[in-house]
Amino acid sequence: MNYTIQLQRSSSSRLAAYDFNNILFGQNPTDHLFSATYRDGRWQDATVGPFQEFLISPLALCLHYGQNVFEGMKAFRMENGQISIFRPDKHLQRLNRSLERMCMPEVPQELFIGALDTLIGIDEAWVSDLPGNSLYLRPLVFASEARLGVHEAAEYKFLIMAMPIANYYNGSVRVKVETRYTRAAEGGAGFAKHGGNYGPALLPTRLAKQEGFDQVLWTDGKTHTFIEESGTMNVMFVIDGTLITPPLTDTILDGVNRDAILTIARERGLPVEERAIAYTELEEAFKNNKSVEAFGIGTAAVFTPIREIAVLGTSYYPSVQEKSLGAELSRELNNIRTGKQSDRYGWNHIVQVTKKAEIAE
Ligand code: COI
Repeated sequence: MNYTIQLQRSSSSRLAAYDFNNILFGQNPTDHLFSATYRDGRWQDATVGPFQEFLISPLALCLHYGQNVFEGMKAFRMENGQISIFRPDKHLQRLNRSLERMCMPEVPQELFIGALDTLIGIDEAWVSDLPGNSLYLRPLVFASEARLGVHEAAEYKFLIMAMPIANYYNGSVRVKVETRYTRAAEGGAGFAKHGGNYGPALLPTRLAKQEGFDQVLWTDGKTHTFIEESGTMNVMFVIDGTLITPPLTDTILDGVNRDAILTIARERGLPVEERAIAYTELEEAFKNNKSVEAFGIGTAAVFTPIREIAVLGTSYYPSVQEKSLGAELSRELNNIRTGKQSDRYGWNHIVQVTKKAEIAE
């Protein structure tokens, strides 16, 4: 199907007043927003228009039964001035897996890529070239049909908003292994990027913060011994030189950066193990004086070293060094997305700024 994306330019811009040296994530969207509506079995009314609030019926199903799914992805300013979106195909795959799990209509590739190109094409000046800065992209699909009763909605909205981002976490983090609350259960929807995986995490996170931690380190819901992921990121450990990360299951988010780091590590010939890792194994490693590095990997979190892991009241301290393996792999990943190193995996989607804007108008 051919999707035409209407373009309505904003009559004013907030860009000149924006301080790229003081980015507060999530508060300042770019000037435009992509939106489309799913009705009568197809996506329609695809538009990039001024970012603005919109009306929603109190009866809208997303407000009641949680049919909402989102993505988190990034666009980067490259060395040569072009803009690349990092692995939109992989993000779309995950979006569609999440949508399928939540009984929501899939987003076709042509619409997804066209929407991103058009939105970033018109807001391209918001993609900063300052080190560590990028443009965060938040695709969101939610049930907009106004009809109470627990059922699949007949109408959905698909939005993409964009906003500058620098660091999500401020340096390294302290985490607490969570052995009471459960993030996701087997057979559930833990792998899906839907709001229902984030709301219930707030209370355990608040409790961990009250104890001085930044995040919880989730464990499996059955035994609370195997590590799954942390807050907003996948986790990895380097124990005596071997990179270890929990395997993808239906309780773990299939991180796009997780996959990228594993790919780069394997290409370098490093020992990589995707396998279950119990917190007791970590404890043993620390007790036996093995070298232990721990870090989180995510779109927003990028590479976030973990400097403390608390297990049932006892704290362990992974090494945090500028030359750590995680930092090294993450630097290479960043070099690929900004064009400093060749894109040998074909991860960068280059936005055709002028061409797309012209087509859309
Ligand atoms: C992301 O890394 O894109 C995330 O989804 C984290 C977000 C919930 C802030």
